[in-house]
Amino acid sequence: MKYGYFDDAAREYVITNPRTPVKWINYVGTLAFGGFVDHTGGLLLCKGDPALNRITKYIPQLPGSQFKGQALYLRRREAGQVAVFSPLFVPTLDPCDRFECHVGLGYNHFITELYGIRTEITVFVPPGESLLVQSVRVTNLGSVPVELDAVPVVEYSHFDALKQFTNADWVPQTMQSELHDGGSGRKILAQFAFMNRDQRQTFFSASIPVSSFETDRRVFLGDNEYGTFQGPRSLHAPELSNSLALRGDNIGALLLPLGALAPGESKQFSILLTQQEGKRAESLTAARALFDAYREPEAVTTALGSLKAHWSEYLGRVQVQTPDASMNSMLNVHNPRQCYMTKHWSRDLSLYQLGFGGRGIGFRDSSQDVMGVMAQMPNEARELIEKLLSVMKTNGSAMHQFYASTMVANEGDAREVDDRPKFYGDDHLWIVFAVCAYLKETGDLAFLERVLPYYEKDKHGSPVQRGTVFDHLKRAVEFTKSNVGAHGLPLLGFADWNDTVNLKAGAESLFIANQYGKALLELIELCEFRGDEAQAQRYRSDYEQMRALVNEYAWDGEWYVRYFDHDGTPIGSKRNAQGQIWTNGQSWPVISGFAPPERARAALDSVNRLLNTENGIKLSGPGYDDYDPHKGGVTTYPPGAKENGGIFLHANPWVMIAETLVGNGDRAFQYYNQINPAAKNHVIDVYECEPYVYAQNILGNEHGLFGLARNSWLSGTASWCYQAGLKYILGVMPGYGGLELDPCIPKAWDGFSVVRQFRGAEYHITVKNPDHVSKGVRSLVVDGEPVTGRTVPAFHAGTTHTVELTLG
Ligand code: GLC
Repeated sequence: MKYGYFDDAAREYVITNPRTPVKWINYVGTLAFGGFVDHTGGLLLCKGDPALNRITKYIPQLPGSQFKGQALYLRRREAGQVAVFSPLFVPTLDPCDRFECHVGLGYNHFITELYGIRTEITVFVPPGESLLVQSVRVTNLGSVPVELDAVPVVEYSHFDALKQFTNADWVPQTMQSELHDGGSGRKILAQFAFMNRDQRQTFFSASIPVSSFETDRRVFLGDNEYGTFQGPRSLHAPELSNSLALRGDNIGALLLPLGALAPGESKQFSILLTQQEGKRAESLTAARALFDAYREPEAVTTALGSLKAHWSEYLGRVQVQTPDASMNSMLNVHNPRQCYMTKHWSRDLSLYQLGFGGRGIGFRDSSQDVMGVMAQMPNEARELIEKLLSVMKTNGSAMHQFYASTMVANEGDAREVDDRPKFYGDDHLWIVFAVCAYLKETGDLAFLERVLPYYEKDKHGSPVQRGTVFDHLKRAVEFTKSNVGAHGLPLLGFADWNDTVNLKAGAESLFIANQYGKALLELIELCEFRGDEAQAQRYRSDYEQMRALVNEYAWDGEWYVRYFDHDGTPIGSKRNAQGQIWTNGQSWPVISGFAPPERARAALDSVNRLLNTENGIKLSGPGYDDYDPHKGGVTTYPPGAKENGGIFLHANPWVMIAETLVGNGDRAFQYYNQINPAAKNHVIDVYECEPYVYAQNILGNEHGLFGLARNSWLSGTASWCYQAGLKYILGVMPGYGGLELDPCIPKAWDGFSVVRQFRGAEYHITVKNPDHVSKGVRSLVVDGEPVTGRTVPAFHAGTTHTVELTLG
């Protein structure tokens, strides 16, 4: 293990070498207040909106060695010798005798040892609070007493995150800092943009007395900033200069004298950062109250306890035990945690998606993300679904993205290209899946009657129309039905799921045709369950009609075509030299049920033969090797990168799902395992990203850096790998009438078990595989009684049940 190891019992990944190939991060808090912390202590924090209310300045493009957002310095004095060092390696880069960054659930816990000092730091946001707590404990490991000072430093960003980088006069003119008394020797540093002084301020403090402070970066670094964060000149003077920045690059630095530590002695304190709304006096009063409440270590311990309880409750909804340790790590801890983060952060803020306002909450992204947290937090999922439904348009299409803090939506990249359609052909259909997943998980069919607005507003800003949730779903499929091209197949619009293929108006998408088919299957099932036979019948005939068109026009001999261009030319056909075969073009006709069995098998075999690699399945192949504005963004990438023949991980679980649908459990698991980051340790220097979350993309085998991953954390891969693993491979799928069981596993497995909460009851499911098959339910026994079929009924909340399923 080169950079770390999984500690499954503690539900942590432990990084033991700070020199990881790229930064490995973890999230703290939520979009309401939070951000991410990297494994050397860097911090990107915001409140409510990363674009419009950014707190710390974290520049991912700077080298890993650089100060990013914050750092802690320790100053150690012993027998006239002074050492200044950062216990989290960056920015002083002194080698550690011991380095551990425990990446936990909503917290990072660091343990390092250098210069004879052990430093333990836990960073987290207490649930529901607008407060970053960094609880620090330092211990003298040596045999003689040492004098120690701690200097936590945070660097602020202008609240408008993009302006910070586009205007170097207005921004620094507005940035101000103030000093307030925190009581008992403590100090509070306030920071704000002048215009916001009476709206909101950021406050930085510590739980122990402060002897001096600094708010001006120039003074802190010294020598007109020819001093550096690696060696700030001001830390060589006994005290900081106590200067208040009236403009410029504002920081907060507090000198905390810890006094003499006897051998073995420890000192503990907390570093606290909050942002509070209101007039100056009000926001300060609120900050003081919070700092007082978290002054004692017991308060911090209690808050950490409730964070851990929150996660135990979240993860406790589903736990699995399979013969594969890496699968267990992912399904029990890391994958549901990533699903939680994608649910909260959508595509807004990560090390790669920088939260400057270009993205916000994506309609298609969040509609898929919510499906990954349905078992754990159905109510929060429903709240997000309601927001998504309210940015649908009256014609049934959807606005592409919106900002959480304002609910203002827009058409995404489609805005930038004048002569292309302004709708995305797939967006609105995803919400059908999300709503049906919510209904199946909860049984809350009354939700369908809830009245919600459509996005268009009148001149007073009120929605022009409202409709029930069910009405929204009906309009979604209606939009696709009535926006078709020359073959009668759905129009692509600006793009479908593949954001980067942007063809001229009139182009048709086979992805959408199949996605529409699957959406219709969901609605047919729903109508049948509600007894609405007439509506079910209408959808059945729409389904048959689209199925016939897909099979008539899109079968290419060994696989399905992916698009028809505006002039009817196929894309994703053996007639094309590049972009000949597309993964989604094959998985989705299986998922929609449009592909007859022999075509389903042939299409999936073509994927296996032409697109699979040991690092995952490529999205298409061969890649386009020339920039072609007619095809759009896909050709801006070299062959093998991202959507141009790269391994786009989000599309991999759809192939796993398709393989389970045709009964090929060995291949489904092979595909699951080959992209499992927890199984990447042996290639981590090539792979580079965190082993505890899925990345969005891996360079494909047409690229010189085959196997290199990027864009970890905020990817639909999280939700779909979780669904592929739980619902399709392990085959535990919520249905309207109960839990439907239909595992499709590797033949070699003897079985597995799942404990799952469902509508308040707990199911202990054991699956046995005595005949070593992949699929097929031979018998089902619930609470000792044989049951016919595959459905375990929904029981009363609070009850516990045993389920034994034998494959065969
Ligand atoms: C990114 C986008 C997602 C899109 C995918 C494929 O992951 O967030 O919306 O579907 O790329 O282009």
